[in-house]
Amino acid sequence: MPSLSAVDVIRTKRDGGTLTDPEIDWMVDGYTRGTVADEQMAALAMAILLRGMTPAETARWTHAMIASGERLDLSGVARPTVDKHSTGGVGDKLTLPLAPLVAACGAAVPQLSGRGLGHTGGTLDKLEAIPGFRTALRRSEFLAQLHAVGAVVCAAGESLAPADRKLYALRDVTATVESVPLIASSIMSKKIAEGTGALVLDVKVGSGAFMKTVEDARELAHAMVSLGSAHGVRTVALLTDMSTPLGRAVGNAVEVAEAVEVLAGGGPADVVELMLVLAREMLAAAGLPDADPDAALASGRAMDVWRAMVAAQHGDPDAPLPTARETELILASRTGVVSAVDALAIGTAAWRLGAGRARQDDPVSPVAGVLLHRRPGDPVRRGDPLVELRTDDPARLPAARPAAEAAVTITPTATPTVPTLPPRRLVIDRLA
Ligand code: URA
Repeated sequence: MPSLSAVDVIRTKRDGGTLTDPEIDWMVDGYTRGTVADEQMAALAMAILLRGMTPAETARWTHAMIASGERLDLSGVARPTVDKHSTGGVGDKLTLPLAPLVAACGAAVPQLSGRGLGHTGGTLDKLEAIPGFRTALRRSEFLAQLHAVGAVVCAAGESLAPADRKLYALRDVTATVESVPLIASSIMSKKIAEGTGALVLDVKVGSGAFMKTVEDARELAHAMVSLGSAHGVRTVALLTDMSTPLGRAVGNAVEVAEAVEVLAGGGPADVVELMLVLAREMLAAAGLPDADPDAALASGRAMDVWRAMVAAQHGDPDAPLPTARETELILASRTGVVSAVDALAIGTAAWRLGAGRARQDDPVSPVAGVLLHRRPGDPVRRGDPLVELRTDDPARLPAARPAAEAAVTITPTATPTVPTLPPRRLVIDRLA
């Protein structure tokens, strides 16, 4: 690789210029190997955040991040492979029922997942609430389970896109996360390196998401679909609502319990609906458009795959989930109709109770979380329970309480009335 100057590269981007392929390759490679310093990459990330990157620059940046590690070869897997990625939301436990559901319909789901950061939860943290569940698998275990069970949800090893691992941690402490090209290349470098043949992106929009507006979410979705397609991964993106939490449970063990309810044929309607929409998209992208996820759910085949997946990863599907020692109810202060439950405020309450982390290496509590007793559109009487806070650490309650109280808006009426709210539009747009 030619020897370039990090200062020149930073200056070019700072002044609004376009980086060349060799400059991008050299910076990403040097940063991964430690010859480009943290402060230089931080300055470049800030320049990118402020100046943006062209589609060609974003594509090369993604290519360089993939090239920083290994790219898995799943061509030996007999079934078509398809994965789903969510950009992160509150109460978004969809991966848990979706991976076994799609596997029960004939695809293989190689899901390398992440941990939660800030108010958004992480799939690995949720699964680790299951007694015994292992998220760190060896390559051979990952492949064997993909063949035998069809669904694996585990941590990405150190060898996949190591440049992203290092850069994401740096962006997190330098206020440079919220850049569309950096988010798109971060997500897609990991998904492309994972080797999946097809990918469905669930791009969340609303207060509980990274992307607060439909325009920003559409820009991110478009960038990711282009990157996936350019790398031979059939990629589809749905923009979905994250102004309100998904389902009733927000946390780790509580979300696993809700996911199991869904697999058993129950669960909140919004979780079931979005799971089925995503399953149909995944199966179509995998080349199985005639597969029937409704039937796989109703027959219990999805639950069978869930149990097999949990057992293969050393979890006990029959073990009771851990429960919190302390609970507190937030009660309605007036009679009326619940007109809003804000996702960010509920995510913040769950995080303050211990369900999430402030820094990447912080521990999370499996039992901490929030249960919504009322959801938008529900009638409510003064004194009815609205939100339940759960934690093992009562000292956390005073910080969580105001966020949970502020999350719920009640439109007062003389008596609790049948709601007149428009139905929630879960899927806002689709890009392919
Ligand atoms: N998730 C990622 O993996 N990367 C980002 O940059 C943001 C969310």
